[in-house]
Amino acid sequence: MNPTPHALEQLRDLALKEIGEANDEQALEAVRIRYLGKVGRISLWSEQMKSLGKEEKPVVGKLLNEVRSTVTGSIEQRASALQLAKEAQALSGVDVSLPGTPAELGSIHPLTQMLERSIAIFRRMGFALADGPDVDDEWHCFDALNTPPDHPARNEQDTFYLPDGRLLRTHTSTVQIRTMTAARPPIRVIAPGAAYRRDEVDATHSAQFHQIEGLYVDENVSVADLKGTLEYLMRELFGPDTAVRFRPHYFPFTEPSFEIDVKSKALKGGEQWIEVCGSGMVHPAVFEQVNVARMDNAYDPEKWTGFAFGLGMDRLAMILFDIPDIRFFAQNDLRFLKQFA
Ligand code: DAH
Repeated sequence: MNPTPHALEQLRDLALKEIGEANDEQALEAVRIRYLGKVGRISLWSEQMKSLGKEEKPVVGKLLNEVRSTVTGSIEQRASALQLAKEAQALSGVDVSLPGTPAELGSIHPLTQMLERSIAIFRRMGFALADGPDVDDEWHCFDALNTPPDHPARNEQDTFYLPDGRLLRTHTSTVQIRTMTAARPPIRVIAPGAAYRRDEVDATHSAQFHQIEGLYVDENVSVADLKGTLEYLMRELFGPDTAVRFRPHYFPFTEPSFEIDVKSKALKGGEQWIEVCGSGMVHPAVFEQVNVARMDNAYDPEKWTGFAFGLGMDRLAMILFDIPDIRFFAQNDLRFLKQFA
């Protein structure tokens, strides 16, 4: 059988027809292998070239090249047409007028809201922010605050001690000491932060809780200043009808000392006094401890007086937002948190 150009052209037309009929990628690939694969019908013609005569060879060779490139081009075209059709098909199922998936918006934790409100009020009264570490030592937490070695708060049952003797601060009053050892008077700071006690956990007690410590040291600071400051805070927080009560109490680091209760008709449980704060006038012994540490007499108790307070922020937030259980703050339950968005 003598191969003729005509047969090649027939082969080409047959290939083009099959390409046109291939309706997916696999079918098209099968056609490509059938014609252009290693032993494909067009490929085999290259083998046969050897047996052709001198005159025929260039003619058939040229035609073979043309046929091969026509078929190759046609396969590529068909492949991209199939690809386009496939994409159009996929998109046809998409309704672009449907609303999208909304992004979930977070919200500020109620305790953080309470802190931010309180801090803003203190800033209006000229208090600066101070800070100290959650892990502190006995000196900053107790000794410098005039707390004797046998005081119950120092007990291992009440305080988290680290193996190296340091502890998780049991109150933010440590920042009073850190501020005074670092700067000379006058001082007017608040220190918001966490405190830790080994309390039995229940609806009103948590091993970690939050306070805002306050310290104001200047010449002639009096209980009247303390009273004015805290009354202003409480009325800004809970409304102008809020009543504030100072009850005598004992803290080692203040003299006199007070516990402070609030009551407001605007709050749930309206006529009840609720304890929110410890406070008092800075004990001269605290100034003396600070002077020893500073190795100067910057806090001369004859010259300087001061007031200090520690506000229980969890309690305040529970009152303001009418939250019945302190444990809700740390449970990270969206059903709870979303109520304060
Ligand atoms: N540190 C006290 C506590 O955690 C609260 C307190 C009382 C802080 C009197 C003070 C203060 O600054 O003057 O119970």
